[in-house]
Amino acid sequence: MSLLNLAVLGATGLVGQTIIEQIEKRDIAYKSLRLFASKSSAGRVVTVNSEDIVIEELTEEVFDGSLDIALFAVESHLSAKFAPLAVSSGCTVIDNSSAFRMDENIPLVVPEVNAELIKDYHGIIANPNCSTIQSVVALAPLRQFGLKRVAYTTYQAVSGSGRGGLEDLERGLKGQENEFYPHPIAFNVLPHIDSFLANGYSKEEIKMIEESRKILDLPELKATATAVRVPVRYGHCVEMNIEFTQEFALDEVRKALEKGTGLNLLDAPGENIYPTPLEVAGQDPVFVGRLRRDISQEKGIHLWSVADNVLKGAALNAVQILEYLITQR
Ligand SMILES: NC(=O)c1ccc[n+]([C@@H]2O[C@H](COP(=O)([O-])OP(=O)(O)OC[C@H]3O[C@@H](n4cnc5c(N)ncnc54)[C@H](OP(=O)(O)O)[C@@H]3O)[C@@H](O)[C@H]2O)c1
Repeated sequence: MSLLNLAVLGATGLVGQTIIEQIEKRDIAYKSLRLFASKSSAGRVVTVNSEDIVIEELTEEVFDGSLDIALFAVESHLSAKFAPLAVSSGCTVIDNSSAFRMDENIPLVVPEVNAELIKDYHGIIANPNCSTIQSVVALAPLRQFGLKRVAYTTYQAVSGSGRGGLEDLERGLKGQENEFYPHPIAFNVLPHIDSFLANGYSKEEIKMIEESRKILDLPELKATATAVRVPVRYGHCVEMNIEFTQEFALDEVRKALEKGTGLNLLDAPGENIYPTPLEVAGQDPVFVGRLRRDISQEKGIHLWSVADNVLKGAALNAVQILEYLITQR
């Protein structure tokens, strides 16, 4: 296996910095690592694996054929502009933005669920939406009961909006006015993530619905979502109300979740044991709990999930994709 030339774009952002941490923590071997951000960060020095790396400005000239794999952690419009340039220079892209996720020719990958899509693949690979990633990791082992419908309600941390979200929470905690969200987020809850569409759903809600169907390869799955921002720094929660096509015993569902890849079941509510963002932040797995039959229907359950949105919801998932690609080459 020959070592590869890697790059991280958006290296100064929340996701980019966490990608760098994961590359170090997971001992990813590389030939070279280059870091890119906006002009305002160019020249800053970041130490990775004891090597001082100077942040470079992202420009079209970067893609000159010298990069093998680039991890993009920038806004969608920048991914839309630079990812095709990268691919035409021979570089494979792992993109954290929403720019390519629903393109039918682009694999949308959660390694625990559908890594086989990127076997021997070169091109753009999309990293899904943060709430979608943690939901499909929990839903994947439940496919054996026949997934018919899922209703998501999310409780999403401010770090899901990047640095701007974290800064607005800190402002609010100090009694200062909000600048980033349309309302104060400290001591508040906003049923509003991303912009609203003509049908009344937000884009975030539609992303969860469409991306879940694509990743699970269940185009007919009935799905709905309500996405909510809460004053939590790190860790998204998703409550899932799931309907199966088949009869089931709750114990079988519990066993399937216990065996699920990348999943950790924390479920003893009588002893106050269930996942919360404060406990889960900084950890790799998706945590689930509060498993119970839905008393309003014959073949339904409720399941609560929590994951670190910057880790499994973004950077870790991207680095797991990178690891898979490296083992292929
Ligand atoms: N945060 C999450 O939980 C999460 C989860 C899933 C997906 N995502 C997606 O991941 C991407 C990054 O999100 P984030 O939360 O890391 O955002 P962020 O903290 O705001 O970071 C944005 C990054 O983009 C860079 N950037 C801005 N303008 C640029 C330009 N013109 N050229 C080059 N780089 C530029 C910034 O560099 P400077 O520091 O130089 O401005 C910074 O490194 C977004 O597409 C987001 O939707 C985020």
